Amino acid sequence: MNHIGRLFQINIFGESHGNCVGILLDGVKPGISLCSEDFKADLLRRKSGGLGTTPRIEADEVIIETGVFNGYTTGAPLLLRFLNTNTKSKDYSNLVKHPRPSHADFTAKEKYDGFNDYRGGGHFSARLTLGLVSAGVVAKKMLDGVKFETKLDNLNGCSDKTKFNEILQNAVDNHDSVGGVISLKATGVPVGLGEPYFDSLESTISHLLFSVGGVKGVEFGIGFNGASLKGSEFNDMIIDQNGTTKTNNNGGINGGISNGNPIEVKVFLKPTPSIGIKQETYNFENNKVEDLVIEGRHDAAIILRAMVVCEACLAIALCDAALVSKAYK
Ligand SMILES: Cc1cc2nc3c(=O)[nH]c(=O)nc-3n(C[C@H](O)[C@H](O)[C@H](O)COP(=O)(O)O)c2cc1C
Repeated sequence: MNHIGRLFQINIFGESHGNCVGILLDGVKPGISLCSEDFKADLLRRKSGGLGTTPRIEADEVIIETGVFNGYTTGAPLLLRFLNTNTKSKDYSNLVKHPRPSHADFTAKEKYDGFNDYRGGGHFSARLTLGLVSAGVVAKKMLDGVKFETKLDNLNGCSDKTKFNEILQNAVDNHDSVGGVISLKATGVPVGLGEPYFDSLESTISHLLFSVGGVKGVEFGIGFNGASLKGSEFNDMIIDQNGTTKTNNNGGINGGISNGNPIEVKVFLKPTPSIGIKQETYNFENNKVEDLVIEGRHDAAIILRAMVVCEACLAIALCDAALVSKAYK
C-alpha cells in the first residue's frame, strides 16, 4: 500500500494537483536537531528548472507539521507536508479517455474504478517523491557515519559524461525522452544490517527503489555483468579482520546482510512516458486505437531528478535495517 518500514516507518500521501503531498514518519529517534533548512540541499537536487527537467517549478518548501519541538525531534510521528501551488489541471483532461502509454493512467483507472485523481498523474506523480527525499534526509541524520555518493552512470546508453548535455538537448528538441542508469554507493555501513531470507538487505533496498515511478531495474555490485564471470573472477577476496574485500562484486551484501564494504546499487530509470511525439493509444470512449500527442509539463529525463530520490530510498532502507538490527542485540 502506501506505507513501508518495520521500525522506521513511512506513509506517503497526496496527489500532484491536490492541496499537498507529503510523508508521515514513525520511528524517528528523539533528540535529532531538525528544521526546514536541513531539507534544502536534497530538495534542491530534486528541483526542476535545468535542461531536461519539467518547466513546472514549485517552491518545494517543507512544512514540519508535527514531531519537532524546540528544534529537536520528539520521538512522536513526524508529518512533513509540501503545498502544490503551480498546477495547470486542464492539461490532463484528455488522458482519462486516452491513457498515456507507459504511464499509470490505465492501471490507476482500472484499479480505482475511475475514481482516481488523474490530474498530473495524481497519486502516481513524481510530486510524491518530495516525501521520499524528505524521509531520506531524516534517515541520513539517523545513520551516523554513513556517507552517500550518487552518480549518473549513463544516459540513453551513453556513459561519456561530456555528451550528456547534447543527449538531453536532443531529447528536448525532438519532444522525446531518455532514460539511464544511476549508481548509488553508501560507505560506512557497519557489518550486520539486513536479515536472512525475506528481509534481506537487497530485498528491502529494492522494495523502496521499485516504489519510485520509472524505476525498472535494480542490481547490486557487478549485477548482471557477473553472469559472464567464473567464481574465481567473481568472488570478493577478504583481506582483513574487518571483512574488507579486494573487489566489491557482491555490492557489500552477503546472506542478505551488509558485509562492511560499500553498499553499491545500480538503478535503471526508464525514459519519461509523457513525450510530445505522436503515439498510439486506446480511446476508451470510442473503443478505437488513436494517435495521442501529450501536452503538459514534463521531464525529458526523469533520471536527473530521480538521483536524490533513489539515494533517499537507500538511506531509508538502511535506517530501517539499522533499527531492526539494533533491536536484536
Ligand atoms: C523524479 C521523477 C520525475 C518524473 N517526471 C515525470 C514526468 O514529467 N512525466 C511523466 O510522464 N512521468 C514522470 N515520472 C515518471 C512517472 O512517475 C512514472 O513513469 C509512472 O508513474 C509509471 O512508471 P512505472 O511504470 O515505473 O511505475 C517521473 C518520475 C520521477 C521519479
